[in-house]
Amino acid sequence: MKVAVLKGGASMERTVSLRSGARVEDALARLGHDVLPIDVGPDLVDRLTAERPDVAFVALHGRGGEDGTVQELLELVGIPYTASRPGACIRCMDKVVAKHALRDAGIPTPDFYAFNQTAFEDLGAARALPAIEERLEFPIVVKPAGQGSALGIKFARTAADVPNALVAAFSYDTKVILERFVDGRDLAVSVLDSADGPEALPVVEAIPDTDDFYDFEARYVIGATRFVCPADLPPEVTLRAQELALATWKVLGCSGFARVDLMLAGDELTVLEANAIPGLTDTSLLPLAAEAAGIGFDDFVARVLDLAVA
Ligand code: DAL
Ligand code: MG
Repeated sequence: MKVAVLKGGASMERTVSLRSGARVEDALARLGHDVLPIDVGPDLVDRLTAERPDVAFVALHGRGGEDGTVQELLELVGIPYTASRPGACIRCMDKVVAKHALRDAGIPTPDFYAFNQTAFEDLGAARALPAIEERLEFPIVVKPAGQGSALGIKFARTAADVPNALVAAFSYDTKVILERFVDGRDLAVSVLDSADGPEALPVVEAIPDTDDFYDFEARYVIGATRFVCPADLPPEVTLRAQELALATWKVLGCSGFARVDLMLAGDELTVLEANAIPGLTDTSLLPLAAEAAGIGFDDFVARVLDLAVA
């Protein structure tokens, strides 16, 4: 098949996407496909219309590529594509929308409070901070609502730290989420679709080598984080994490593949978010989990393509 690999783009996760895309291209070449790499820019529709690939493998992360935009364009030009449809991408990319959906469905997720920039500015810090203190237990994590790879995430140990954390988060997005900090273990459960329905892969635990959290550098510098897969967990916790991942997938309406990030504190599991197009780099978690389930990277790519054209 002629397979377009959409990668790069203009998001802040461009470099991650180029790495995911390159790995997918290598796999497609080994599988004998005709590979058409496309670094996504304003000429995307023209190129797709001119080249007419049979299918597009979307290896984009972040805004523009993982948030439903490119998926809408692919719908428009009528080219089948991998992973989630536009609606699911929108729900996953916006952490506020995702967490409302999780909470409504009874899926445990840390308490949160959201602000858009104009509302925060209109309210002013003097009124906003007491409201935050009333709603959330500190410490909290302040995150841009629509960013990936931990970009723009700051901790606030007390309300006094919030204004600076908000300034940082607002430089990435006009909407931020303030979330109760969970001091626990970082887990991820990737979900892979099949003709018989989605399957939760083995749980991965990310153990950063710093005292800090699993930040951008820890994610992509080889050796900066230790990954354990399958995570060393009691069987019932593994099962529960996988159940929560599948429930999250369903609530957000994902397809193809996705990764759900969770925290484990004591024996309490909470879902932080779902990633509609998780990283596929050499240090990314989904390929590792697939490998642990006996699904090599080429098999993963082949399966995802089959689902896209089915
Ligand atoms: N946002 C990055 C690519 C991830 O979730 O893996
Ligand atoms: Mg994410």
